[in-house]
Amino acid sequence: MTFVVTDNCKSCRFTDCVAVCPVDCFHGDAEMLYIDPNECIDCGACVPECPVEAIFDETQLPDDKKDWIKLNADKAVGLPVINSKQDALPGAEERKEKLGF
Ligand code: SF4
Ligand code: F3S
Repeated sequence: MTFVVTDNCKSCRFTDCVAVCPVDCFHGDAEMLYIDPNECIDCGACVPECPVEAIFDETQLPDDKKDWIKLNADKAVGLPVINSKQDALPGAEERKEKLGF
């Protein structure tokens, strides 16, 4: 099992999640983060940290978000580890509001 970052992270990238991950399994590009399923130990600590509820247990993903399982696995391997809090992307607060948070 693993946890999965989904589309709400895109254009937000708040990175509160990385600060609590005990195994540094978040990887990032300029838009968002992805979880390496081979590193995630399923602790669930990151889920309540995300202000836009972007992170799901893979077994609880809504049907329209299931593609994110493979996307996280594929993307994470080639991208740098992000393990310390960074500034959110410009416009993240506006996007958060638009998403209803
Ligand atoms: Fe890291 Fe735990 Fe979240 Fe997996 S579930 S990404 S190990 S904080
Ligand atoms: Fe993205 Fe939420 Fe983490 S916006 S970077 S999954 S705190």
